[in-house]
Amino acid sequence: TSEILIAPSILAADFARLGEEIAAIDAAGADWIHCDVMDGHFVPNISFGADVIRAIRPVTKKVFDVHLMIAPVDPYLEAFAKAGADVITVHAEAGPHLDRSLQAIRALGKKAGVSLCPSTPESTIEYVLDRLDLVLVMTVNPGFGGQAFLESQLEKIRRIRSMIGDRPIRLEVDGGITRDNAAAVAAAGVDTLVAGSAVFRGKGGADYAANIAAIRAAAEA
Ligand code: DX5
Ligand code: ZN
Repeated sequence: TSEILIAPSILAADFARLGEEIAAIDAAGADWIHCDVMDGHFVPNISFGADVIRAIRPVTKKVFDVHLMIAPVDPYLEAFAKAGADVITVHAEAGPHLDRSLQAIRALGKKAGVSLCPSTPESTIEYVLDRLDLVLVMTVNPGFGGQAFLESQLEKIRRIRSMIGDRPIRLEVDGGITRDNAAAVAAAGVDTLVAGSAVFRGKGGADYAANIAAIRAAAEA
């Protein structure tokens, strides 16, 4: 099994001090920086786009894990690649041509990810596994931070872990992740954990290092 990676979601950061917040989670031990892009169409909320990602790119050398909750997505892939994304994740539900979107991401020289909403079955990715560097299982309905973790997704995580086999694909979980459920998702096969609220205002308050360390310790246990 792969090393556990913790990816704080900057959706939960103070946007008025976004650069400082990213420097702080970098110093606090974040492995990846998870960037939630929302369009008010695919999901019922609007966050930020490629220009913001470009602006914060110089703040850290850490991997930018860009989660695109937008439809259509293909017209914007190049902009996110140029803005400094390292991993670009599209939603399987965002359009009819997932295979094409994944090819486009790799053609831009980036790691390709697919995300599945809670109601989307794992069979959706059966024929694109060899185009994937990451699978992101949503454990909330995408659109907002601070929602409750959906236990129903543990079975899907186990099934996707088995589908991945020995392919070099990271299995990431996003939504309602805390130090209290990190062990369960890791036991189900996750190796990369996104956390917004639990990092920026977790049980350790605004002690980002303590919050990240607690999630990591639980997932590694
Ligand atoms: C939800 C986003 C998540 C969200 C996680 O649509 O994709 O990344 O920011 O926030 P928490 O960890 O608070 O559920
Ligand atoms: Zn996300």
